[in-house]
Amino acid sequence: MRKIIIGIESSCDETSVAVLENDNNLLSNIVSSQVQIHQKYGGVMPEVASRIHVEQITMVLEEALNKANVTMEDVSAIALTKGPGLIGALHVGMQAAKTLSLVYDIPLIYVHHLAGHIYANEFIKPLQYPCLALVVSGGNTELVYLKEPLSFEIVGETRDDAIGEAYDKVARVLGLSYPGGPIIDKLANKGNPNYNLPSPMNDKSLDVSYSGLKTAVVNLVHKLKQNKTDIIVEDMASSFQLVAVNMLIDKLLLALEQYDVKQVVLGGGVSANSYLRRQVQEKIKEINNEIEVLIPPLWCCTDNAAMIAKVGSMLYDKKIFGDLNDGVDPDWRLEDFSLL
Ligand code: KG4
Repeated sequence: MRKIIIGIESSCDETSVAVLENDNNLLSNIVSSQVQIHQKYGGVMPEVASRIHVEQITMVLEEALNKANVTMEDVSAIALTKGPGLIGALHVGMQAAKTLSLVYDIPLIYVHHLAGHIYANEFIKPLQYPCLALVVSGGNTELVYLKEPLSFEIVGETRDDAIGEAYDKVARVLGLSYPGGPIIDKLANKGNPNYNLPSPMNDKSLDVSYSGLKTAVVNLVHKLKQNKTDIIVEDMASSFQLVAVNMLIDKLLLALEQYDVKQVVLGGGVSANSYLRRQVQEKIKEINNEIEVLIPPLWCCTDNAAMIAKVGSMLYDKKIFGDLNDGVDPDWRLEDFSLL
């Protein structure tokens, strides 16, 4: 039987709807990004984000259905991001999904946003278990052990800021646009790591921390400005990126000493980072050639509904459906989504 899953993603500043046929055939994945609107604020304005989701969601849904050449009558289930994310933004996707569910009598499937980032890799290759996932985005930095499908154990995480948040803040203090990650990445490739920055979390835990590094850049930039010393932006970007990414790589390698895995998978917006992509491949090859590294293509690193539909499709097979009485969960822990 033909299985058609609709995915809806609205956890931050992308309104997205996807149509997925039989697990792997992505018929459409429409993403409407609000980045240009938030640029003038230097970051995502939650209330503005919710309002734009309201304006966009119907058009994005219509476009996704049209492109996929399906109607709501063809749909088997609606999978949506229940959390984590911005509460108002999540609500818009949730209300749209509930309305469709009631009108067309279609089951709902609640999906954890980070599970989506991890399973986005399955558009390229199936995950093999056990595996370790490094999920790095604007709101999250987590090292996750998956013993079996849809079983998530967080083995390391940030103690304060997410890595993407640090990239965006460093870009802002350097007078660069939002989102700062891709800009810092480009500049860093043209510079040298000549500024000395502290590398926190040099310990045996699998946790990371970005608040101290971020503050060190902010203080250094202010000090250089006060002294009227020119700042070489490319070098500052390179110095920050070196410490920020190497902190992740060090913890990943430490985790691999403790967890015997078949694959390492990346996910989330920061997995688009060129230095991180290179380093993960190189370093893992050096320690164990048999561990396969899966890196999502750029189109599914940042937020999209295809990855939500993908997880929804797995839950559909297990008949795990959402309750209409449930609401969004802005702080949903990945482990609480776990099937184990
Ligand atoms: O996953 P995502 O689209 O949204 C969240 O769920 O947070 O990630 C957005 C984050 C932003 O902080 C952005 O600056 C960062 O991903 N990002 C990057 C790169 N591309 C996007 N950070 C570093 N290097 C990049 N190339």
